[in-house]
Amino acid sequence: MSPKTEMTGQEMIDLARKHTFFEWTSQGKVDPLPVARAKGCYFWTPEGKRYLDFNSQSMCVNIGHGDERVIRAMQEQAEKLTYVSPFLVTEPRARLGEKLASITPGDIDIFFFTNGGAEANENAIKFARLYTGRHKILARYRSYHGATAGSIALTGDPRRWPCEPGLPGVVHVLDPYHGIERGWEDAKASLAMIEEVIQLEGPETVAAFILETVTGTNGILVPPDGYLEGVRELCTRYGILMIADEVMAGFGRTGEWFAVDHWKVVPDLMTLAKGLTSAYIPLGAVGLRRHIADYFKDHVFWSGLTYNSHPLACAAALATIEVYEQDDLIANARRMGRLMRELMLELEARHPSVGATRSIGLFGIVELVRNRQTREPLAPFNGTSPEMAALSAFFRREGLFTFVRWNYFFTNPPLSINERELREGFAIIDRALEITDRAVEQEVEASVRA
Ligand SMILES: Cc1ncc(COP(=O)(O)O)c(C=O)c1O
Repeated sequence: MSPKTEMTGQEMIDLARKHTFFEWTSQGKVDPLPVARAKGCYFWTPEGKRYLDFNSQSMCVNIGHGDERVIRAMQEQAEKLTYVSPFLVTEPRARLGEKLASITPGDIDIFFFTNGGAEANENAIKFARLYTGRHKILARYRSYHGATAGSIALTGDPRRWPCEPGLPGVVHVLDPYHGIERGWEDAKASLAMIEEVIQLEGPETVAAFILETVTGTNGILVPPDGYLEGVRELCTRYGILMIADEVMAGFGRTGEWFAVDHWKVVPDLMTLAKGLTSAYIPLGAVGLRRHIADYFKDHVFWSGLTYNSHPLACAAALATIEVYEQDDLIANARRMGRLMRELMLELEARHPSVGATRSIGLFGIVELVRNRQTREPLAPFNGTSPEMAALSAFFRREGLFTFVRWNYFFTNPPLSINERELREGFAIIDRALEITDRAVEQEVEASVRA
């Protein structure tokens, strides 16, 4: 059979497992969903089973699947010019730089294009080290910044552990959130800890502090008011560059163009990817404030990528940004975000296994507990449990696609979602949580017997 003919789902799985590698897992364990097509907030297997995409795939298909406007823009660009070396310029590159300058905060108005988020962070730290002449980078524990050598070293979560020792000079600091059992500390206490670390490390050795403005895979952690403003102030005071990783939180996900906009903070460098093209094609970017960019007028930027400023990707990004604007998707993220908050509060009221819900715009998470008094998570840090596995299997059976990780799962649908679709997703979640509620009941019965 020709490899080009349509395959069944099982054939796709078997062949892909035989000849392609899957990420973040041992290969024997993978159990992927086969996908044939996608439109709006849904995708379908070759056999026609429909899934509601409640995670925008990897929190990236922000405008929804199969938007004709982006597809047409890519087709038109492909017919004209698919590629030139990054030493040459093209119209999509020029226009995209200008457009991004108009939507990013403050005087961030010049961009270096990459293939994705990890490379954007790699280059951001390169910019910071070259500009400051310092070498240390502060990052937070509850963070993910990508899987390349430098970005995984910046990453705070356990995905870093097997990759160590990584980039020298990365120093991790604690977050204001300390997990479901210990909860939050206020901005003031958290900032004091960061300042203490800066002093202990030697401020004149620290080039940058990189942070996700609203943390993504490590828990949709919305910073307490005053926190990002305080980080900005500390960075300014000590001559440290603030790098906002907006790879996941950017492009409307939180109900503003960028998450920093909620607190009116202007970072020195900002990294972008995912929603930049809504993943129609890979593209990332580092945005720089003018005075930092100016330094490189007579200093070499020691970096490069064959696919820097790829014309097809830049054209896709321009069309994607036009879709956000034409369909007012950022306002829709705010509107649907308010409904999502209400639906989450209903879950908290109805289900004893719901320990916490957090959301900002359409960036949401549900954290599950075994016991509401002790707040013991339903799966340990960096682990899983039979209940979380059963929850995941239920979602899959019922046609809801989302990420289930440790003791939580995400609610990050495309920003184009409507009320009916959002309620459809939460109705499946409502039924699924009966599984995890049973674990709470068993815990209560066991404590009564004891
Ligand atoms: C906050 C953040 N930064 C960086 C990355 C890495 O992006 P990429 O996978 O495009 O390299 C991710 C990916 O999930 C992310 O969530």
